[in-house]
Amino acid sequence: MLKGKKIVLGITGSIAAYKACTLIRLLIKQGAEVQVVITPTGKEFITPITLSALTHKPVVSEFFNQRDGSWHSHVDLGLWADAMLIAPCTASTLGKMAHGIADNMLITTYLSMKAPVLVAPAMDLDMYVHASTQDNLQLLQQRGVTIIEPGSGFLASNLEGKGRMQEPEIIVDELTEFFALREGRLRGQRILITAGPTYERLDPVRFIGNYSSGKMGIALARESVCQGAEVELVLGPCSIPLPNSSLLHTTRVESAKEMYNAATSLFPKCTSGIMCAAVADFTPVSCEDKKIKREADSLTLNLTPTKDIASAIGKLKTENQKLCGFALETHDALKHAQEKLIRKKLDMIVMNCLQDPGAGFQVDTNKVTIITADKVEALPLQNKNSVAKEILNRFIP
Ligand code: CTP
Repeated sequence: MLKGKKIVLGITGSIAAYKACTLIRLLIKQGAEVQVVITPTGKEFITPITLSALTHKPVVSEFFNQRDGSWHSHVDLGLWADAMLIAPCTASTLGKMAHGIADNMLITTYLSMKAPVLVAPAMDLDMYVHASTQDNLQLLQQRGVTIIEPGSGFLASNLEGKGRMQEPEIIVDELTEFFALREGRLRGQRILITAGPTYERLDPVRFIGNYSSGKMGIALARESVCQGAEVELVLGPCSIPLPNSSLLHTTRVESAKEMYNAATSLFPKCTSGIMCAAVADFTPVSCEDKKIKREADSLTLNLTPTKDIASAIGKLKTENQKLCGFALETHDALKHAQEKLIRKKLDMIVMNCLQDPGAGFQVDTNKVTIITADKVEALPLQNKNSVAKEILNRFIP
């Protein structure tokens, strides 16, 4: 998601400098190219050898090369970068940035920077809340610098997590979102996604559910926000971690009825909907308020049909909105999926067959066929993140 992005990573003299290794690894994993610029004090905390080994680039720290006297050009770095990220950023560096005190390579690079700048402050709580630091942060913000707030533990309590730089995973998420908001293909879109299973209560301790893990729907939500869309995720019971993004709005639900209510009320303000949830087709006529005892020889459950969310949204859909459904089939797959495409007024349906190895519930991969009114396209087996990309490319071209 940061594919091909050129990042100047500024590292300053904080104990959190050790987290720069994880940060670099995550940035590179996302496809970014990283050039480290480190302050003299930064080198006291982490060695340039470690950093250059991770980035595959010599680390820049002095104004000129000690060996041959050639200049390191901060101007060139300013032109090369797509973004400058300073993490960890000390109170001292914040102060120098705010007041243009260019006494090291990192600050001169900042002053020559043509690309957006993000900083992740790392310091003691007293220093962070000090009026000088707060004034500097405000000055920098006014000049367009993005501040990546320290971790919640930092501000929540005076004792816990003191001086903590935001975790590398969250910094990378914020950077990804930063680019998504500026350049993402799906900026301006608002996508409703239903995901996960539903639980239909039988009594206080039991429910009727299904094997859906929520992985496919969450992969779709993650990919959508990475491409700059706002997502309304209506999510049934599942424990898969959610992407950390201000573009993602999650409504947790349990039953098919709750999912129906949430989805139908959110859809009118969305530009499209993807119905990925495995919704129960039947629910108990009543939920017992006491645990059902095993007294009898047999037990008959009385079930009543749930409302079809996809069909209801198909009916709500206006000319400017689009709807995509899923179909998990066990036999006559294509016939059933095509029939659902028409019956539910969908613009696209993603079909998978439970018999296909690697497709279906719980697994990380999926093998799908994408069906529209005039096309049937079978995609190869791939991980659910890639499937999500393929679906979005076709659904919102
Ligand atoms: N769906 C829904 N609400 C329901 C049932 C299904 O929104 N109560 C949606 C699913 O999210 C999916 C599509 O409809 O996008 C197809 O779901 P599926 O279970 O395959 O279809 P059903 O209509 O339930 O048909 P059947 O179970 O008979 O195959």
